[in-house]
Amino acid sequence: MAAPSNSFTTVVPVASIPYYRGFDSPTGSLTVTESSLVDRFGRSIHYLRISVTDRCDFRCVYCMSEDMTFLPREQLLTLEEIDQIAAAFIELGVDRIRITGGEPLVRRNIVELFRELGRHDGLRDLTLTTNGSQLARYARDLREAGVTRVNISLDTLRVDRFKAMTRVGDLGKTLQGIDAAIEAGFERVKLNSVILKGHNHDEVVDLVDFAVERGIDISFIEEMPLGDNGDHSVADVHYSSQQIREQLAERYSVQPSAERTGGPARYWRIDGYPGTRIGFISPHSHNFCDDCNRVRLTSEGLLLLCLGQEHSVDLRHVVRAWPGDRERLKQAIVDAMQIKPKGHEFDLKSNEVLVRHMNMTGG
Ligand code: GTP
Ligand code: 5AD
Ligand code: SF4
Repeated sequence: MAAPSNSFTTVVPVASIPYYRGFDSPTGSLTVTESSLVDRFGRSIHYLRISVTDRCDFRCVYCMSEDMTFLPREQLLTLEEIDQIAAAFIELGVDRIRITGGEPLVRRNIVELFRELGRHDGLRDLTLTTNGSQLARYARDLREAGVTRVNISLDTLRVDRFKAMTRVGDLGKTLQGIDAAIEAGFERVKLNSVILKGHNHDEVVDLVDFAVERGIDISFIEEMPLGDNGDHSVADVHYSSQQIREQLAERYSVQPSAERTGGPARYWRIDGYPGTRIGFISPHSHNFCDDCNRVRLTSEGLLLLCLGQEHSVDLRHVVRAWPGDRERLKQAIVDAMQIKPKGHEFDLKSNEVLVRHMNMTGG
């Protein structure tokens, strides 16, 4: 690959990096730039998703098995370590950070982390993905801490189904959380609905009605095969974005829109309802990896280069072995770009699932 044109460029031998995991030894050399992260495919990385915990108060059927073992607390990055790593990424040009889980709001003192992150100059967008169960309590503090946008999972509006799909959740609490988020005045509130055939595919119109009534966005997501969910085969319940659009067309006039939020969603607008955008996240029917702009930090400090692959670098090792050494941390991050894979290989026909459950990465 030709080196991107940047004023400050160094070449580093990548084979000497000791903390790679889950891939064959890299070969070749690496382009390090002072203020930007660019991978081997020329993609510029300016978005970091941070999972602050693998724990959750729900057990959604597409995310976890019923019986999960969570990481021991001492294996988690501390909130201070997360902030240090975030600061290094921001110095390297990352301007968007999304906090995910598990459920991020079950982590103790989490609002403190948002306050710290909110203080960094250079961060344009500080966002949260949550199941909403604790939002009634936290929404206002999060807004004050600088959170710009919130995405809230909502797969069904029926109490019994909500209990079945989350295995333990209480719909009423999530609905209160959604109201609190709207009240708190975030720039944008978005619902996330994972649609599974035979579970909730008959509710897509109701869910859009719900979003339209509140003037908020909604994204429909095709299930991805991550971890054994102990409940269903991903292929059996697959319900495509196209099928969802066909259902919606019976009730609404929907038009494709060119707008993007920097995520994998493709947006559609509804005639007559300007307050709501409908997003479609379609990993099976639309591959969006070519313009991937993101990497992920797991709660135990692994920098994951792709949601659908195992390539990772152990940043916890770096912050603990060389405490306070920002330059070394930045170098490790820059080096990691060399192993960012081209894309995911989710395949409905193969029946294979990635060993990692979704709660390790937060999506
Ligand atoms: P915005 O566009 O900023 O609103 O966020 P988002 O929709 O990208 O983020 P969110 O955390 O709400 O995730 C919604 C869905 O998108 C989840 O199912 C994620 O797993 C999925 N997703 C996010 N990024 C990627 C990605 O890079 N690859 C794949 N395959 N899925 C992703
Ligand atoms: N496939 C697609 N989306 C998923 N999510 C959780 N597990 C999966 C999966 N297997 C979604 C959640 C949440 C977001 C972070 O990821 O519904 O909205
Ligand atoms: Fe928890 Fe979100 Fe996973 Fe559901 S999808 S179990 S709410 S982390």
